[in-house]
Amino acid sequence: MHRKVYLKTWGCQMNHYDSSKILNYLKLNNNIIVDNYIDSDLIILNTCTIRKKSEYKFFNFLEKLRILKNNNNNLIICVCGCLSTQEKENIFLRNNLVDIICGPQSIHKLNKLIYKFIKYKKKIIDIKSYKIDKNIINKKDFNFNNIKLNTYVSIMEGCNKFCSYCIVPFTRGSEVSRSPEKIIEEVCYLSKQNIYEINLLGQNVNSYSGIFSNGKLCSFSNLLNLISKIDNIKRIRFTTSNPFNFNNDIINSYKYIDKIVSYLHLPVQSGSNKILKLMNRKYSIEFYKELVNKILNVRPNMIFSTDFIVGFPGESEKDFLLTLDLINELKFDHSYIFMYSPRPGTKSYYMKDNVSLIEKKRRFKEIKNLIDNNIIYWNKKMLYNKYKILVEGFSKKNSKFLFGRTENNRKVYFLGDKNLLGKLIYIKINDISNKNYLYGNL
Ligand code: SAH
Ligand code: SF4
Ligand code: F3S
Repeated sequence: MHRKVYLKTWGCQMNHYDSSKILNYLKLNNNIIVDNYIDSDLIILNTCTIRKKSEYKFFNFLEKLRILKNNNNNLIICVCGCLSTQEKENIFLRNNLVDIICGPQSIHKLNKLIYKFIKYKKKIIDIKSYKIDKNIINKKDFNFNNIKLNTYVSIMEGCNKFCSYCIVPFTRGSEVSRSPEKIIEEVCYLSKQNIYEINLLGQNVNSYSGIFSNGKLCSFSNLLNLISKIDNIKRIRFTTSNPFNFNNDIINSYKYIDKIVSYLHLPVQSGSNKILKLMNRKYSIEFYKELVNKILNVRPNMIFSTDFIVGFPGESEKDFLLTLDLINELKFDHSYIFMYSPRPGTKSYYMKDNVSLIEKKRRFKEIKNLIDNNIIYWNKKMLYNKYKILVEGFSKKNSKFLFGRTENNRKVYFLGDKNLLGKLIYIKINDISNKNYLYGNL
């Protein structure tokens, strides 16, 4: 039976990428995708559990579905994503609305699980890790009317690092790399559908270690090299890389592969060695700064963004000030700041969460202010200079304006002709009065 499917996603880009694959599987079974859960008879909730708040958001949303579920015996509710592997069968106990639980590594089984649920009318769970590539390309699916120039491609999943605060190694399992041939096939296919910019995804892309069908190993730098040879691909981004194993081959890729953007997200988490050690990050601030310098040596115009956790157990004012110093020194651009949230099962869950919420909020705000200043700092540096942008579309407010993005992800509006869509062009920035988007001239 064809169903009307509503899908909602929380969490990181990997989860959103999974959602696109979930939709591919469901569409292959002739289900119809709807925008509103009121109209649906199959609701897929792709969950995240990185912080307590992500879990709350999911359970709050689920509760909103109670009346709908009570009034429609046919409605199926399925939980996918990281909460499935963290909470397992407990989800059934925590909320009786859930019919199916499907883990991140089981999404290729989803159609079967739904079929089984309908047949046997019994709650069902599959959170196994199958040793197959779950990522399929749905060639029927591409929407050619929709101008889309960039997209994500997963290259590896899972994490073996076990940072003391992090749930990901438990929810996504250990690191598994996709075969280089499968990745190249996906990128080649996308490059023929007007995708010019690829963002390679993984919990730790620099740990990528694929195996060719002839048994040879493919490292992350090998993979970057192969992807850069695909003609239509004009820009390569990747996320996320852990500073710990960002090796010299990857650094040298910046020297030889122009297509890799001069913008790198390199999560540091804290500026204090004491806290980094408690976090089990396996590098020191000295190591991090040296890595930044090595990258700047081969790419002098590189700009860095990062992640911070504020209020980690034991973070004193002195530790926090070291983080502020680091931000002032390295001038991180747009970055993510998170208030520490203890996750059951992780090592730091057993450390005393001794920084108060008020204090966490203050530290969050102080970092945010510094990062906002840095954003303005980089905007000022850009003023009256020429930058390459990939032209992505028309402005929604004024269709005379086109827009594109610089390598450091600044949206730039300019007057231009529609034949520039999809092209990499140079723009001179001439207006930085708004922090979040700029104006320029051809
Ligand atoms: N693999 C990436 C990060 C993935 S998780 C890396 O190691 O850099 C994304 C971000 O969520 C992390 O960088 C961290 O800043 C934040 N995070 C993870 N667990 C958290 C927790 N328990 N509390 C607060 N923030 C957390
Ligand atoms: Fe989490 Fe650390 Fe792995 Fe990143 S490297 S996903 S923060 S355990
Ligand atoms: Fe969340 Fe899982 Fe991503 S916990 S951040 S959806 S890997």
